Amino acid sequence: MSISQIARSIAESPTLRMNEEARLLRERGEAVIHLGIGEPKNKTPITALLSAAAKLNTGDIKYSPTDGLPSLKKAIVRYTEENYDKVVAPENIIVSSGAKQSIFNVLYTLINPQDEVLILAPYWVSYPEMVKMVYGIPVIVKPEDGRFHPRMEDIERAVSSSTKLILVNSPNNPSGVMFSDEFLADLIKFCERKGIYVLMDDIYHKLVFRRRRWTPAYKFARQDLESGKVIVVNGIAKAYGMTGFRIGWTIANRRMVEVMTNVQSQITSCTAMVSQAAAEGALNGLQSIVDSLRLTIENNCEVMMQELKAFTGIKTIKPDGTFYCLPDFRAYSHDSVALSDFLLKKAMVVTVPGKEFGMEGHLRLSYAGSIKDVTEGMARIRWALDPSSPTEIYIGDRKMIRDWM
Ligand SMILES: Cc1ncc(COP(=O)(O)O)c(C=O)c1O
Repeated sequence: MSISQIARSIAESPTLRMNEEARLLRERGEAVIHLGIGEPKNKTPITALLSAAAKLNTGDIKYSPTDGLPSLKKAIVRYTEENYDKVVAPENIIVSSGAKQSIFNVLYTLINPQDEVLILAPYWVSYPEMVKMVYGIPVIVKPEDGRFHPRMEDIERAVSSSTKLILVNSPNNPSGVMFSDEFLADLIKFCERKGIYVLMDDIYHKLVFRRRRWTPAYKFARQDLESGKVIVVNGIAKAYGMTGFRIGWTIANRRMVEVMTNVQSQITSCTAMVSQAAAEGALNGLQSIVDSLRLTIENNCEVMMQELKAFTGIKTIKPDGTFYCLPDFRAYSHDSVALSDFLLKKAMVVTVPGKEFGMEGHLRLSYAGSIKDVTEGMARIRWALDPSSPTEIYIGDRKMIRDWM
């Protein structure tokens, strides 16, 4: 079989692979704890369910307009006004099958072969692969000071005449760090001057802790939406815990949305109508459910930080939001893939290797699950790695003895 070069070069999503591994182990009856998880455990908001059910009850489930149901776009206009303090028109919005497809469609619409796209490390695993899929060149910018916050000096050094776009995700998967207003202001100013697009992946913007304020990038833009460089992607997956509905959206200038609509019309025609109805229900419904989800996750984060403190030799930066952290495990191993495999084999805990996010020697740990997942998962990791922890532990109903150190 002759697989195309581009398809052959695309790596499997490591986070989805870990999900599958955890599922298979659970199916075999293993007491797996999933600290690799990328979705909250809440039930779908009732307003989303009712709205989807009402649509189903009509029995009239057909194609929707390619760019999304007008009523959903109206809800997104309102959401943008409320959360971004920005008035946008329905013609500035296109709904896609998850923020993932939104990002891909933006890249497909803007990137010519060999255009460079700056990706700020640590980064979401899918960014470099998506850039490669549109024949662009991912250019990774790593903060040289070892922190997880990008610096303008590193970005300015990485920009070339081929730079077309910078991908920004704040609060950030995998570090949980939210970028400062000062940095965003400098970045937007720089990009407007240089004519570089900035794609703001705002998927975690509602999951910000300790009452910190998240600022939309629009606030720093001098140019208006039609002539400006800021593109926004958002969705319902993380804030509403509605990952399975696959709804995301892009806000961009009208010309871009027009072209993205043509592109999407040839790929998926449109997003599933029942999912769009569910998204509309979530966006128009009571928003206190987002606050209670955030509070639960924030509490889990505090517990995770306490657990990590108890660990000898682990350094970690406290997250500002999301449901991830990215502790430095180099005191135990510099090979995060081997470490993650070891923890799965010995302790039945799923983690994601930092290497996949451009941060070797680190592990991405998620606290999106239950408190019990966090405390038990961390106890098992300590047992497997930290010689100062007790040598015996129960994994499920099996008593395990550490005999490798
Ligand atoms: C940074 C980031 N952007 C986008 C997505 C994709 O979101 P969706 O499920 O809406 O496609 C994810 C999912 O993990 C993510 O972490």
